[in-house]
Formats: sequence, structure tokens, C-alpha cells
Amino acid sequence: AGTYDFLVVSNRLPVDRTGGGDAGWRRSPGGLVTALAPVMEKSDGAWVGWHGAPDEELEPFEHGGMALVPVPLSSADLELYYEGFSNATLWPLYHDVIAPPEFHRAWWDAYRKVNQRFADAVASAAAEGATVWVQDYQLQLVPAMLRAARPDLVIGFFNHIPFPPQEIFAQLPWRRQVLEGLLGADLLGFQRPNDATNFARAARRFAGATGKGTHLVVRDATDDAGHSPRAGTRGGRRAGHREVRAEAFPISIDTQRISELAARPDIVERARQIRSDLGDPQTIMLGVDRLDYTKGIGHRLKAYEELLTDGRVKVGEVTLIQVASPSRERVEQYRLLREEVEGTVGRINGTFDTMQHTAVRYLHHSYPVEEMVALYLAADVMLVTALRDGMNLVAKEYVAARRDGTGALILSEFTGAADQLKQALLVNPHDIAGLKDAITAAIRLPAGVAGRRMKAMRRQILVHNVEEWSSLFLARLKEVSQ
Ligand code: G6P
Repeated sequence: AGTYDFLVVSNRLPVDRTGGGDAGWRRSPGGLVTALAPVMEKSDGAWVGWHGAPDEELEPFEHGGMALVPVPLSSADLELYYEGFSNATLWPLYHDVIAPPEFHRAWWDAYRKVNQRFADAVASAAAEGATVWVQDYQLQLVPAMLRAARPDLVIGFFNHIPFPPQEIFAQLPWRRQVLEGLLGADLLGFQRPNDATNFARAARRFAGATGKGTHLVVRDATDDAGHSPRAGTRGGRRAGHREVRAEAFPISIDTQRISELAARPDIVERARQIRSDLGDPQTIMLGVDRLDYTKGIGHRLKAYEELLTDGRVKVGEVTLIQVASPSRERVEQYRLLREEVEGTVGRINGTFDTMQHTAVRYLHHSYPVEEMVALYLAADVMLVTALRDGMNLVAKEYVAARRDGTGALILSEFTGAADQLKQALLVNPHDIAGLKDAITAAIRLPAGVAGRRMKAMRRQILVHNVEEWSSLFLARLKEVSQ
């Protein structure tokens, strides 16, 4: 056994290289690391994950008070485990098959092999009785692999993306193995109650779990005779059986941080600059997404193009800024999407731009958080039109940045965030007519109505931030493992 009492495991370590070779590291943006770094410092923790460079082995190192344990991935692992099974099988399957998932046995073999490598790394770094928190769909086999090697560990898992309905999940040729992998955990966290229910149903149907609702009972594979190390210690439990909970823990953001950035004079000034660079239109609309087919970027552009064609909105009065950050560019569906989106943007701009004004300012970049907050401040209307999204943190960031209560959020009901941001203008992005109406309503939303809605949403996320999310999950994990 190793020395760490608390381990977080995710496909990527929460750091980026600031340059090539031996250059330094920078903590990557994102709420997860912000929430977990303090927990790690307090409890002798470590983060286990890939360091972002293919075909490179690295020794464990420290950064920003966190111990980091790199797991190497070869170019072949990236192609088969990451681009293949994770992002061309599981990702589309779990997002309502918006794109067709591909099933290849070689990808599955690589997924198993890489999951085992992550499990081995954790097993040798974890102290006796340590708590391990596994993150997301890339690592679903890790819980059971870990339990087999280290039955003394307390194991939690959180799925950041949706868990699909049984009928869709059933397509996966390795559905039983994936479920058994997950059932190695003591507590499984999902974004929405429906995700937890979908999982529990699939576990009963395809993996022989019993129990009611989202409280599952599984045979303890580590010891069929019922002598599992922790089995005898709990009253009222059948020997050789283990309990697994599947529950909803909607993730959030570091609300305070975004809100504070939104008050920084240089960022406020930058927002003003962005508006004036665009010719100070009456309304700036904003979309911010990884360039992913789940985000409904095409639906958004279609609605906007029709509004321009109908004359319901006019270039010069309205501009759309679309930030599409590069993502998974070696996966074919992502390449196709990029061509499609860029073709549409080109057509819209070709038709509607004037010498002075542009219809769509399209940016295929990722930006530092300061620039993102300036964009949120510059935007009167935020468009989140995902066809399926586990949570959507961009929606929460926009709300966090709107300190003065102005601004309108258009939010797809197919995002987890719709459960918390109930005062948004909720839309079904497949309904283009409805989406067009929501956009015109957002542009004309009376200040009083907008203010009441935005303030209610800000109150929600100021209380329910990412720190609360991780504390609730870890407290519950402790509770169910005792
Ligand atoms: C989603 C997933 C994360 C993933 C992120 C970026 O939010 O839930 O697990 O890290 O997308 O995708 P990437 O493939 O670049 O890690």
C-alpha cells in the first residue's frame, strides 16, 4: 500500500504544460480542481491521471500543494481508449445517440487495459483504508478493478455526463462489464435523478443487482464465501453481499471566483472594449461551447439565420459571438461538425454581413477565464442550446458573472443545469420556431423581469457551488461506507 489517504482519479490531471519539455505546469481552469485542492491539502491527497503528453512517462510530482501521479498513455492508447471507446463509443451512446456510436472490440480491449493501468496506479498509491474518488465515463471499470485489488478502500464514482435510458444503454456489447465495473463503488454520483434511476434499472436488468430504487445490492465478487473484510462489520446485511448507492449530486462552479472576476475593473473594461469593437450593437448574443455535436450549435445558428431572413432581427442591431473551443479534433464526427458549423457561419455572414457589421463573430479558440468573464459581461443574451448535456457549466458561469442582474439566459431543458436555473428561458432546441420566439423574447425582456430572474438564479448558484457539491458527495460517501 502507498501513503495517500484521499485520491482523485480522472482521465486528465488538472494541470497543463506551460511550454514544451521540462517547462512548468499551470493549474487548469475548472471548478473540480478548485473544489478538491483544499480537500487534498487537508487530507494528504493525490490526484491520479494522464499528464497530457502522449508516449511520455513521468515520475509523480507536486504542483500548487497537490501531489500528482501521472499515468502514461501511448499514441495507440489515445487512438483506441480515448478517441475510440471513450469518445466515439461511450460519448455518443450516453448522449442519446445524437451521433451514431461505433462498437469495436479493439477499442474495448484498450479501454479495459487502460482502466486497469489507472486502477493499478491508485492501488499502489493508496494508504490502508483510503478514500478514492473516480471521475467520469473514461474510467468506469476502475471501481471494480480497485475493489478486487484493494477491498479495504472506500470507493466513490461520479459520472459527469448523462447516463442513458436502458433501451439505449442496451446497445453496448459490453454493457454487463461496464455495469459491473461501476458497481465496484460504494457510492455512484450522477448529475440528475433520472441518470441515477437509469443506471439502477440497467444494473438490475443486465448485471444481476437487486434492491429497490437507487439502493442496490450486489454479490460481493471479492469474496463469495461472505468473508469480505468489511462485510461482517455491518449489522443487518446478508453475508457476501454489498450495498451500492446511486444518487444525484448536481455539480456546480466556483461561483464566488467568477463573480469576483466580473467585478475586476480591467475585466469590466475589457467587456466594454468587446462591445465597442463590435460597433456597440443594441444586443450581443453569446454562445460558448466545446465544438461538440451535443451542444446544438447548428440548431442555434439555424434559428438565428431564420430570424435574420424573416427580418425579426437585424445585423448591426444584433450580433452573435460564437466561441467554439477546439475539442477531440482527431475524432471523425468532430471534424464533420467543424466543417458543418463553419460552412453555416460562412453562409450566414456572406448573406447578412455589411462592411460595418458582422452577423456571427465565430472564434475557434479557447480563452483564459478572464476573457470568458469579459465575454459574459459583454453579452445581453446567452444561448445554451445543448441537445443533451450532463450539466452545462457555461450557463452557471454566465449567471455568476451577471452581478447587476441584467442579461437573459436561454437554456435547453436537456441540460442538467435546467434543474437548478429554473428562471432561465427554457427551450427545446429541436423546436426551431420555439427557439426563435425565445430569442426575440430574450432580446426584448423587460428589465424588471430580467432582473428578478437573474437574481433568483444567482442566489441558487451562490449557495449551491462546487464546494458544496464535493462536500455533499464526500460526506455521503463516508456515511454509506460505514
Ligand atoms: C466533458 C467530460 C470531461 C472532459 C471534458 C473535456 O466535460 O465530462 O470528462 O474532460 O468534456 O473533454 P476532453 O476529451 O478534452 O477531456
